[in-house]
Amino acid sequence: MARGTVAVMAEVPVELFKAALGRFASGVTVLTVRDDLDDHGITVTAFASASLQPPLVLASVAASSYLHEVFLRQDLWAATILAAGQRSLATRFSEVGRPSARLLLADLPHRRGSLSDGLIIEGGLAAMECRTEQRVEVGDHTLLVASVLDVTYVAERGAPLLHYTGRYTTSVTPPASGPRRHTGDPWPA
Ligand SMILES: Cc1cc2nc3c(=O)[nH]c(=O)nc-3n(C[C@H](O)[C@H](O)[C@H](O)COP(=O)(O)O)c2cc1C
Repeated sequence: MARGTVAVMAEVPVELFKAALGRFASGVTVLTVRDDLDDHGITVTAFASASLQPPLVLASVAASSYLHEVFLRQDLWAATILAAGQRSLATRFSEVGRPSARLLLADLPHRRGSLSDGLIIEGGLAAMECRTEQRVEVGDHTLLVASVLDVTYVAERGAPLLHYTGRYTTSVTPPASGPRRHTGDPWPA
């Protein structure tokens, strides 16, 4: 093989791809967006910080999702990072044919974001309002690169809801607070 070339398997089987990426433990986030008709929401694990200055996040939304089309039209949305006790919310917001976000949250504390008009779920680990700045088509998903307009709240403590090997888990012990050593981590909270 010539220098600089990379060996790529002709086609990585989708199950192998899922198994590998399933080993990347991730948090679980609910995105909400309002359009002329209603409030909508979707559970995603593909949500991450993208830039510190300016503060940007990214979210990846499947083109097959009914919300995809809404995210193409609407720039403003809200994101709530779920806490360990909010597993049922993650399920509610991922069911195919789910009702509007307003109905899904009718029995739960929430508020409407003043900047995005998106519904912000209370009791999460953090919530923020975002504005899509860039959309990038990536395979069967669209990557939303969004600026964070406001951080609505950050929980002082609490464990995260996690997704790992295709299942929800909460088996993480939050580290004890104390002095941090400088490790080069660009995201110390
Ligand atoms: C744990 C979990 C993580 C998910 N992560 C994503 C994601 O990152 N992006 C995405 O588009 N859909 C993701 N989904 C799928 C959506 O939540 C939803 O199930 C899917 O869009 C089907 O509903 P819809 O077609 O009615 O939108 C995830 C689902 C689950 C259960």
